[in-house]
Formats: sequence, structure tokens, C-alpha cells
Amino acid sequence: MGYDRISRILHWLTVVIVLTMIPAGLIMADTENRALQDILFIFHKNTGALLIVLLAIRLSWRVTHPAPPLPAAMPAAQKAAAKVSHFALYLLLVVMAVSGYVRVRAGGFPIEMLDALGVPSFVPRDEALAERAKSIHATAKFTLIFFIVLHIGAASYHGLIRRDGVFSRMWPPAGRA
Ligand code: HEM
Repeated sequence: MGYDRISRILHWLTVVIVLTMIPAGLIMADTENRALQDILFIFHKNTGALLIVLLAIRLSWRVTHPAPPLPAAMPAAQKAAAKVSHFALYLLLVVMAVSGYVRVRAGGFPIEMLDALGVPSFVPRDEALAERAKSIHATAKFTLIFFIVLHIGAASYHGLIRRDGVFSRMWPPAGRA
């Protein structure tokens, strides 16, 4: 038995967004090409704002729709590792999304889509807060990337080597009809 259709769609939407936001963030923080940097900043901030909404929906869905059971034959230590790493991924996504938002808003910068919609900033202008959020954002990315690599590694192990049905709990993205 696998995850329901909504859980799968929310999961794969998150994958697409996060796996484009990470390279965009890394390049924009490093490049000296101003035109490219501007485009990536606009993409990263606005997609990040959408991701905050997506994460809120996803976490609410996850809390009210428990994960299907893992195979009985799976060792207890592996089940525990899966639980810890899934929790870490959710936590790190929230930390990245919130610190990114705070870095931008406390720094007094625009988030074009929210500004166009008339959504006000939820944090006050505060340079010290913006700097703290910036350093949290830049540090937490390493831990997030570590857990993403671990997660993809574990999914590939189950899908390609063990073939124990764990991979198909979340694949295909919209579930089977
Ligand atoms: C899960 C969500 C997010 C991920 C995975 C992510 C990832 C990243 C990464 C990898 C960097 C490069 C950091 C560096 O190398 O120093 C970065 C930078 C940045 N991100 Fe995000 N980000 C996320 C959400 C957001 C959000 C929601 C916003 C704002 C609305 C945002 C705004 C920024 C800004 C402004 C920078 C440049 C930091 C600076 O140097 O001032 N991010 N992000």
C-alpha cells in the first residue's frame, strides 16, 4: 500500500521546486553576472514564497494523513532511520523557507509576486535579523543537501536493489488509477 494521490503530488511538486531552487540559490550567491543574478533572485524569492504555501499545505496534509506502514520485513533500525531523516527533511525545508523569507523581508527587499498581490511583510525591517537569517540560510543548506542525498540514496536502494515495494509507495507521482 502506498501514499495517497494528494501526498504524492505534494511530494513531487516539492522535489521539482527544491531541486531547482538549490542550484539557483548557489549560482546567484556566487555569480558576478548581474543580469543572471537578478533573474535567479527573482525566481528564487518568488518560487520560495510559493514553496512556503506548499509546505504549509503539505505539513497539514501529512499530520492528518499518516504514512502507510513500511514492510514488516524491514529492519527496525532502517525504519527508525527513515523516520528521523523524513522528519529532518521537513524541518530543514521549513528552516530554509522561513530564514529565506526573513532574510529578504527584514532586509527590506521585494518579493515581487507578494508585493503585486498586496501581501504585507510579516517581519519588521531589521538589519541584524536579516544578517542572522542570511547566515542560518547559508549554513542550513549543507544539512539539507546532506539529507536530500541520503534520501535519494535510500529511495534508489529500495527501488533498484531491494525492490521491496518501498519506492512504489511514492512513485508514480500521481499514484495509480
Ligand atoms: C526550501 C527552500 C529554500 C531552499 C532549499 C533555498 C536554497 C538556497 C541556497 C542553496 C542558497 C545559496 C546560499 C549560499 O550559498 O550562501 C540560497 C540563497 C538565498 N535564498 Fe534561498 N532557499 C529556500 C527558500 C528561500 C526563500 C523562501 C527565500 C525568500 C523568499 C529565499 C531567499 C534567498 C536569498 C535572498 C538568498 C541569497 C542569500 C544572500 O546571500 O543574501 N530562499 N537559498
